Amino acid sequence: MENLLVTGGAGFIGSNFVRHVLAHTDLTVTILDKLTYAANLGSIEHLPSDRCRLVIGDICDAGLVDELASTHDTVVHFAAESHNDNSLQDPSPFVQTNLVGTFVLLEAARKHDLRFHHISTDEVYGDLELDDPQRFTESTPYRPSSPYSATKAGSDHLVAAWTRSFGVQATTSNCSNNYGPWQHVEKFIPRQITQLIDGLRPKVYGEGRNVRDWIHVDDHSSAVLAILSDGQIGQTYLIGADGERSNREVVGALLTIFGREPDDFEHVADRAGHDLRYAIDPTLLRTELGWKPRHDDVETGLAATVEWYRAHEHWWRSAKVSTERKYEGQEQ
Ligand code: NAD
Ligand code: TYD
Repeated sequence: MENLLVTGGAGFIGSNFVRHVLAHTDLTVTILDKLTYAANLGSIEHLPSDRCRLVIGDICDAGLVDELASTHDTVVHFAAESHNDNSLQDPSPFVQTNLVGTFVLLEAARKHDLRFHHISTDEVYGDLELDDPQRFTESTPYRPSSPYSATKAGSDHLVAAWTRSFGVQATTSNCSNNYGPWQHVEKFIPRQITQLIDGLRPKVYGEGRNVRDWIHVDDHSSAVLAILSDGQIGQTYLIGADGERSNREVVGALLTIFGREPDDFEHVADRAGHDLRYAIDPTLLRTELGWKPRHDDVETGLAATVEWYRAHEHWWRSAKVSTERKYEGQEQ
């Protein structure tokens, strides 16, 4: 492994992964990114140009992908339409990018014999009851709820089929909800942080009982690098850091950081088909690859994330304006 093609490297997790690789290895990186609304060039502008370059393009463009595949040995595939709420408004780009785009990349990996790592989500497994003692494992059956999670589930199946039928050297990881710096303000945590910076109230869907299993994005990146280095071909790894919190708990912690009452939030209309709870059992990753998270306290991570958003308003302000315009009308 010498040169990585990282799709979606101008997005939240992809750009974090690129920074992580540049800091911890000697690898060179090409980012392939279409620069959708979710990308931010500010996330990658300071990277060293001798080891990292950006190609602006679409993973569905088979000619471009084939050309790039011929000069790289490894693909790490982050590019996706990634937001559930958007997938409920218009599923079409989700089908295109998440399914067709993954297909195009797999065909190139097959032709050029590339190592392929596919980034996916725990949402492919559907949801759990609040009191279910089980967490998701590598053998939990797929049961996706939203157009987003259904297209990610489909992309996982494509990777598995290309591995079994065509011998593509692939691994897949399904990670829980990420938080940390550089996350688009449409997502739950940065949306609420930026509401609070603006002196407004956080907006919680429904009762806020829904539970997500939060992991710091740095820990997602270190896990992906561990899988790339030592993972078994054909294996799926679940990535999680024992960070289960209800949405009310997260919002309460953020309000407390801002010196406000923990229940000073607004209830807005619930999301259609809203998954109740996600929870990851990361035993395989920990035992087989010896991986462990560095950030093991969500509240400490949230406080650092708040500081980052306070210091980087220039990075998020224009996206905040367009995002809140998009949410208007969806939430009454
Ligand atoms: P993001 O929306 O922040 O970034 C996605 C990036 O992909 C953007 O830079 C965008 O421009 C690019 N992109 C979109 N369509 C493209 C196309 N057709 N061609 C090329 N580039 C394209 O997403 P994220 O939160 O960083 O998620 C990255 C990956 O991690 C996704 O595959 C997502 O399913 C997965 N994931 C996310 C989370 C999470 O909590 N955010 C958790 C688990 C897994
Ligand atoms: P989100 O960040 O969209 O991630 P996902 O849908 O992939 O889990 O949402 C996380 C949780 O927060 C989810 O239960 C929906 C909820 N949520 C709110 O309550 N208010 C909001 O403004 C947003 C964006 C999400």
